[in-house]
Amino acid sequence: MNKSSIAISLQREYGFNHILANSVASKAESKLKDCSDVDCVKNWYDENKPKPFVKWVGGKRQLLKQFKLMKLYPPDDFKSDENKYFEPFVGGGAVFFDLLPQKAILSDMNRELVITYNIIKDDVRNLIKSLKKHKYNKDYYLKLRDKDPKKLSNVDVASRFIYLNKTGFNGMYRVNNSGKFNVPFGNQKKPLICDEDNLIKVSESLRNIKIVNRDYKEVLKEAKRGDFIYFDPPYHPLNETSSFTGYTSGGFSTKDQEDLRDAYFELHKRGCFVMLSNSNTKFIKNIYSGLDEKIKIHEVDATRMINSKATGRGKIKEVLVVNY
Ligand SMILES: C[S@@+](CC[C@H](N)C(=O)[O-])C[C@H]1O[C@@H](n2cnc3c(N)ncnc32)[C@H](O)[C@@H]1O
Repeated sequence: MNKSSIAISLQREYGFNHILANSVASKAESKLKDCSDVDCVKNWYDENKPKPFVKWVGGKRQLLKQFKLMKLYPPDDFKSDENKYFEPFVGGGAVFFDLLPQKAILSDMNRELVITYNIIKDDVRNLIKSLKKHKYNKDYYLKLRDKDPKKLSNVDVASRFIYLNKTGFNGMYRVNNSGKFNVPFGNQKKPLICDEDNLIKVSESLRNIKIVNRDYKEVLKEAKRGDFIYFDPPYHPLNETSSFTGYTSGGFSTKDQEDLRDAYFELHKRGCFVMLSNSNTKFIKNIYSGLDEKIKIHEVDATRMINSKATGRGKIKEVLVVNY
C-alpha cells in the first residue's frame, strides 16, 4: 500500500481526520515495512498514540468530538504535508495531539511548560529517571513547590512541573502576583507521576516540532498563506468571579482579547485557516462580528470543570470562530 491509499483508508475505515491520517501514513511508509494492510497501520498507531502529558485548565479534549461533528475541524483544504500548523496558546496541547501535524510550531507564555515540552522532546530518558525519584506526600510537595524553578536545571524544571501538575489540586497551574506557583496539595490516592510509556510516545511525536516560549504575536510573524492556526487563549470571563486567567502572572485582559481579534483578522487576510475558541459572551461575539462574511461564530456545548463545587459544573456554551 502506498502513502495516499493508507491515508484514505484511515479516514474512510477508521474516521481519522485527514491531518492525522496523512501523518500516520507518512510514518507507516518510512517505518512499517511489514504492514501490508491498513489494519496493521491502525494497530501500530493505537500502540504509539501520545496523549497530553499534563492536565490543563481549559484543555480541549472533551470538545474535539463536538468540533468534528459540527464539521468545523479540521479545515478540509489545509495541506498538512506542505503547510504548517500553529498553536500559539498550546497549554496541554489536546488539539496538537489529536492532529499530530507533520510541520508545527507550538508556543506558550508559560516558561516552565515550554521547558517541559522541550525536555520531553530532547532528553526524555533523564526526565523519566528524575520523575521516578519523587516521593508522594504533602511535605515533599510543599518543599518542591517552594523551589525556585529559575535556579534549577531544565530537567529538574520539567520534573518539578510534571510532579506538581500530577499531585497538586485538580492539576491546576496558578501563580501569585510575583509569579510563584501556589496551588495546594491535591490529596489524591495514587497519582501517576511518571507515565513513562506516554512520555516516550510524546517525545517521539515532538521530534520535528518547534516549541517556543514566546508571545503569540511573535510566533505568528512566521505564518504564511495556507497555514492553519488554532487559538485557544485564556477565556474572556463569563462574569467577574468566574475569571480564571492564572496560567501566567500577567493575565489576559479585554484589550488583549481585542488585540487577538486583530491578529485573527490579519491572518485571515493573509490567507491562513484560522480557528479560535473562547467563551460565549456578548463581548466576544461582538468583537468577532461583521469582520468578513467568511468569518463565522459557532456555539458549542462544553462542560467546564474549573469550579470545584459540583454546582459550578454545568453545561455552558463556548464559541468557535472559523474562517473556512
Ligand atoms: C486555555 S489555555 C490553552 C489550553 C489548551 N488548548 C489545552 O488543550 O490544554 C491558554 C494558554 O495560553 C497561555 N498564554 C497566556 N497568554 C499568552 C500569550 N500572550 N501568548 C502565548 N500564550 C499565552 C497560557 O499559559 C495557557 O497555557
